[in-house]
Amino acid sequence: MAIAHDGKNRTNNAKLLQWVDEIAALTQPDRVQWCDGSDAENQKLCDEMVAAGTFTKLNQAKRPNSYLARSHPSDVARVEDRTFICSEKKEDAGPTNNWAPPAEMRAQLKEQFKGCMRGRTMYVIPFSMGPIGSPIAQIGIEITDSAYVVVNMRIMTRMGQKVLDTLGSDGFFIPCVHSVGAPLTPGQKDVPWPCEPDISRKAIVHYPETREIWSYGSGYGGNALLGKKCLALRIASAMARDEGWLAEHMLILGLESPKGDKTYVAAAFPSACGKTNLAMIVPPKGFGNWKALTVGDDIAWIKPRPDGTLRAINPEAGFFGVAPGTSYDSNPMAMESIKANTIFTNVVLTDDGDVWWEGMGVEPPKHGIDWQGNDWTPDAGRVGAHANSRFTAPASQCPTIDPAWEDPAGVPISAFIFGGRLSKTFPLVYQAYDWNHGVFMAATMGSEATAAAIGVTGIRRDPFAMLPFCGYNMASYWNHWVNMGKKSGLKLPQIFRTNWFRKDANGKFAWPGYGQNMRVLKWIVERVNGQVGAVESPFGLMPRYEDLDLQGLDFTKEQFAAITNISRAEAAAEVEEIKGFFEKFGQTLPPELEGQRQEFGKRVEKAPEVWKVVESA
Ligand code: GTP
Ligand code: SPV
Ligand code: MN
Repeated sequence: MAIAHDGKNRTNNAKLLQWVDEIAALTQPDRVQWCDGSDAENQKLCDEMVAAGTFTKLNQAKRPNSYLARSHPSDVARVEDRTFICSEKKEDAGPTNNWAPPAEMRAQLKEQFKGCMRGRTMYVIPFSMGPIGSPIAQIGIEITDSAYVVVNMRIMTRMGQKVLDTLGSDGFFIPCVHSVGAPLTPGQKDVPWPCEPDISRKAIVHYPETREIWSYGSGYGGNALLGKKCLALRIASAMARDEGWLAEHMLILGLESPKGDKTYVAAAFPSACGKTNLAMIVPPKGFGNWKALTVGDDIAWIKPRPDGTLRAINPEAGFFGVAPGTSYDSNPMAMESIKANTIFTNVVLTDDGDVWWEGMGVEPPKHGIDWQGNDWTPDAGRVGAHANSRFTAPASQCPTIDPAWEDPAGVPISAFIFGGRLSKTFPLVYQAYDWNHGVFMAATMGSEATAAAIGVTGIRRDPFAMLPFCGYNMASYWNHWVNMGKKSGLKLPQIFRTNWFRKDANGKFAWPGYGQNMRVLKWIVERVNGQVGAVESPFGLMPRYEDLDLQGLDFTKEQFAAITNISRAEAAAEVEEIKGFFEKFGQTLPPELEGQRQEFGKRVEKAPEVWKVVESA
């Protein structure tokens, strides 16, 4: 029996029409709906989700046009163990990715997707990553059986009819197929958050050579909003390698000095390590004449231009941010961005129809409903919001959004910043001696586990914050970065590493972080412009006490020492650990990086037992 299509006439792209028919024949939905991205369509989907219990409409006076969703308790974060890079050859996926033979994976997916949309609507979502028509943007089409995915994609991407119009009759698009993997039998009542609860049956699959994405079994964030990590990082990183550009897990931030000069920086921190916070930084008192403006908070696509600059766009149109810890103290611009038109997932519902989470900076409600849908009180002995609970909000609602955030040409990047979550050994900030040293600093970045991924514990190396997101061999990716440094005529950005997370002897953060990070950003901007000093350390170039603008902050030389001293023994252990890490990559490791490791080793050997920046001045 033919499946009814609603809105098929919206495109005459033969390839697209044929592909949608194929997927519908395979997955057997009750009907197909081509999304136009309109307000009316969005409202209808939200109303339907409220009726189905997927969404709770929040108090219209307190949180206009906003909704809360609670996921299935097993479906709360990305599933790295079930994420696959299916290149033809195993070595092209490299030692840090899960690989499966593409033919076998295709056969398995065909079985899993057969009839998987029974009883559901199949939505066709045309979306653009990047301003529509930008030379850096790409078009994707996501097919999904989740209305939650449709309304989130509408915030996170440019979505709807205008994308089909730009695609035209023969434009290129990246096909993305998603199903929650919970077909319904006739008459069966649906659950609020359908998904495949058996984790071993979830699969987030990428074919980098043919630029395809197939995702089965999860309705959550990076597993299901396929424009984000799947397309904009895993598939785009492979495209970027082939075409000579960069697809990175980076925020983009514009910094305007009191003189009015603007410097853009891009910064890569692993998941849940501070990108959204830094992207929306508000300079502290005493920095009143500095302006910080947000371009993006998670992903950057960066292309070399004929004038030698590296220009970056934010391929996204919204923020999918971590809720816990977001407050008017830590991130006021995020709080302003989520006042309306926002979807909250897995936070606390208050009795007056608003939301709450740990670290929101307001008194917890005396009673609420926790992320699992149970009655909750502050003395319940368990958190109310899941540690990876999130908000989805339009980027245009951020009061500090940069006027150029939708410039199709992108913004010129002058510095790359890389930062892990490391409680010891690593100083607050240091600058690379040169490009290859910077690539080494980024490639060897480590970080402590967070709630953004299921099943990750302890410290792990997270090169370029791309460990879960690089769509090909990590060593080849490093080589791509090394090669960028060899291109003639490129104005290469300076490279820095930061660590906001070093702890003192009492286990407390030794650096105040958040808005105070502006002091470090100022040093970085002034280094880029050759306006401030630095000294050589075993790790890289570091600011002296007097080089960092600490006015207005009560931060003593002793406290400064606690975030900048370098233990020779700890640094030597790092040199050795990196050796073991590099060995995993065998012949594919760029020789430049082993060379950098040896240089680092020599600097460490020459260092005193405790290297002190204060005394080196
Ligand atoms: P993803 O969306 O998962 O990619 O995360 P993200 O990198 O955008 O991280 P986000 O900015 O949401 O921060 C995650 C956590 O780090 C939150 O709990 C923040 O409160 C905390 N955090 C951010 N910046 C700082 C900082 O400067 N110092 C400290 N101590 N914590 C911070
Ligand atoms: C991350 O984990 O880096 C995120 C959230 O930004 S997700 O969309 O789930 O990838
Ligand atoms: Mn992220």
